[in-house]
Amino acid sequence: ATWLNLTLQDSASPVMEQLIFFHDHALMIMLMIISAVFYTMISIIQNKQTSRFILEGQMIETLWTIAPAIILVFIAIPSLRLLYLMDEIHNPAMTLKTVGHQWYWSYEYSDFTKLEFDSYMVQQEDQPIDSFRLLDTDNRVVLPMNSPIRLIVTAADVLHSWTVPSLGVKTDATPGRLNQMSFSINRPGLLYGQCSEICGANHSFMPIVIESVSTNQFINWVSKMSESSDDWKQV
Ligand code: CUA
Repeated sequence: ATWLNLTLQDSASPVMEQLIFFHDHALMIMLMIISAVFYTMISIIQNKQTSRFILEGQMIETLWTIAPAIILVFIAIPSLRLLYLMDEIHNPAMTLKTVGHQWYWSYEYSDFTKLEFDSYMVQQEDQPIDSFRLLDTDNRVVLPMNSPIRLIVTAADVLHSWTVPSLGVKTDATPGRLNQMSFSINRPGLLYGQCSEICGANHSFMPIVIESVSTNQFINWVSKMSESSDDWKQV
C-alpha cells in the first residue's frame, strides 16, 4: 500500500489480479445501473404529462423484470469462476502453516525441520524510524516468489483471520479446524496484512509481514534458520 491509497492495493499474485479485474467489471455494471436509475428519476420529476388511459404496461413490466436477472448472470458467472479458481490447489511446492494466538501469529514450515517461530507486532517504543506503526512484525514470513504455496490456517484460542490484501488471501483461523488456501507471489518485496477477525477487545491488529524473495535467497534463509536456534525466536 502507498500513502492515501483508497482503492485496492496493487496485486502481488495472479488471483489478486483477477480479483481486481472482477471488481472493476462489477463497478462498471453498477455505474451503468446508477446512471440509468438517475436519468429515469430526473425525467420523472421533470415530466408534467399525465394520461388517464394508461392502466398497465405488460411489455415494460416484462422487460424490467428480465433485464436485472440477465445483468446478475453477467456478475455471477465471473464471480463463480473466481471463487473456484481461488479454491484450487495447484500442486504446491511448499506448505506454510500459521496458527493464530492472541495477539500474535505463529508459523510452521513443515517441509523443513526445526523451522517454526512466532511473529509479534513491533512495539511502538521499539520501532525503527523506517517501519510502519501497528503493521510491522519482529519476525517476517519469508516466502519464495514464483512458486505455488499452500497455506494452512488454524487458531489456538479464538477466531482470527489471516488476511493479506495484495495476495487476495483471507482465510479464517478457527480453533479445531484447518483451513486451506493456495497462492503464489509474482514479485519480490514486503507484503503487509492484518488479522481481520474480532479476536478480542482492543486487539492489536495482529500484523502479517511477508518477505517475498527469490528461491535461492529463500533456501539460504531456510538453512540459516535451521542451523541456528539462537538468532531467531524459535519455539
Ligand atoms: Cu486475530 Cu483479529
